[in-house]
Amino acid sequence: MEDLSPKAGDLDHIETASRDEISALQLERMKWSLAHAYNNVPHYRAAFDKAGVHPDDLQSLADLAKFPFTVKTDLRDNYPFGMFAVPSDQVARVHASSGTTGQPTVVGYTRNDLDMWGGVVARSLRAAGLRAGDMLHNAYGYGLFTGGLGIHLGADTLGLTTVPISGGMTPRQVRLIEDFRADGITVTPSYALSILDEYATQGLDPRESPLKVGIFGAEPWTNAMRREIEDAFDMHAVDIYGLSEVVGPGVACECVETKDGLHIWEDHFYPEVIDPETGEVLPDGELGELVFTSLSKEAFPIIRYRTRDLTRLLPGTARSMRRMEKVTGRSDDMIILRGVNVFPTQIEEILMQVQGLAPHFQIELHRKGRMDAMRVLCEACEGVNMPAREAAVKDMGHRIKQVIGVSVEINVSDPGGVARSQGKAVRIIDNRPKGD
Ligand code: DLL
Repeated sequence: MEDLSPKAGDLDHIETASRDEISALQLERMKWSLAHAYNNVPHYRAAFDKAGVHPDDLQSLADLAKFPFTVKTDLRDNYPFGMFAVPSDQVARVHASSGTTGQPTVVGYTRNDLDMWGGVVARSLRAAGLRAGDMLHNAYGYGLFTGGLGIHLGADTLGLTTVPISGGMTPRQVRLIEDFRADGITVTPSYALSILDEYATQGLDPRESPLKVGIFGAEPWTNAMRREIEDAFDMHAVDIYGLSEVVGPGVACECVETKDGLHIWEDHFYPEVIDPETGEVLPDGELGELVFTSLSKEAFPIIRYRTRDLTRLLPGTARSMRRMEKVTGRSDDMIILRGVNVFPTQIEEILMQVQGLAPHFQIELHRKGRMDAMRVLCEACEGVNMPAREAAVKDMGHRIKQVIGVSVEINVSDPGGVARSQGKAVRIIDNRPKGD
């Protein structure tokens, strides 16, 4: 794999600034952001008043803990534009969640917000090893989802040549990567696997592809998956994180030279990790729920937003800004099976160790008698015979029992048997009877 490390002078000053400089900037911006939210968004004014706090009470970064959390339902209750802090003629762009599970959540950006977003995505793409003039194959979905257009904005800012292919039409994805000689690809890790399959279908060797780096996010994925993808394509695989409520992709990104967790662009997004039960702020290094406060956003300031993503904060390495460990999963995706907590990422990690199984999987939950039961749907690699499949089922079941501590059923289908994603993978199919 090519050395894509940054050279002297490649980075923004703030990326290697001292912690003191970063904290001073954060405090100044946090004061502004709290006041901006309080003065312009009725929800924040009411929530702060109810909690008996005022933006002037913030004297240090730690004082943020006195302010109330914001949760998804606050955004839904203020649908569509109630959380906006600027008049609509200053809103240059809106994005929204799909709303498949209820009221969509709508977010907005001023022109300055779009510039900031382009800046942090450019920083992320550079951290991943791309430079002006490189060709980027952007296979995140374009539209209300922030993935496609957010990456596009950053790619423009960095000076890349962008191929705005969006998701879907997998044969064409392979063709354009090859014909246009893409240096980088931005895509969900699960769709990257579909593209990988398509290389095989077309009889092409993915290790011969022009790709130098893949920048994967929008869903949890493991280091085991990283090794699988890096090996298959002979390219670097880097993790990018973000959520629409905070800005979209580009809240945090790994550096290609270290791949040791995602540096949070702390000059714009202030992270906390809390105990999800008590709401208490945890010291760096402890696992909990990630919470973000925007420091510079105008149209849609967000104060102490509970992401539901589970991770821990770690000190900076390749950059001065703190890192977040790869996200284990969302608290909403945690399956509690007979009292044991199970995350889809744990299943992924184990699946990657089992011989003869492809990296695709889904988890089906159903009811067996009065107990919840789990079935892992996976598929055999091409050319794996029946005895080898049976051995794989045994091995997988055994490893899950050993590592996670639950007995589950393993279902191995023929190659292609597990549903493929063209964006975010659907990992859990819940077939348990509703209403109990
Ligand atoms: O998924 C933004 C994004 C687009 C990030 C492209 C990276 C690349 P939402 O649709 O609002 O925004 O979903 C946000 O996706 O709270 C996490 O649960 C999950 N997520 C995003 N990135 C990662 C990641 C975009 N790298 C939600 N690892 C978040 C694990 C991720 N989970």
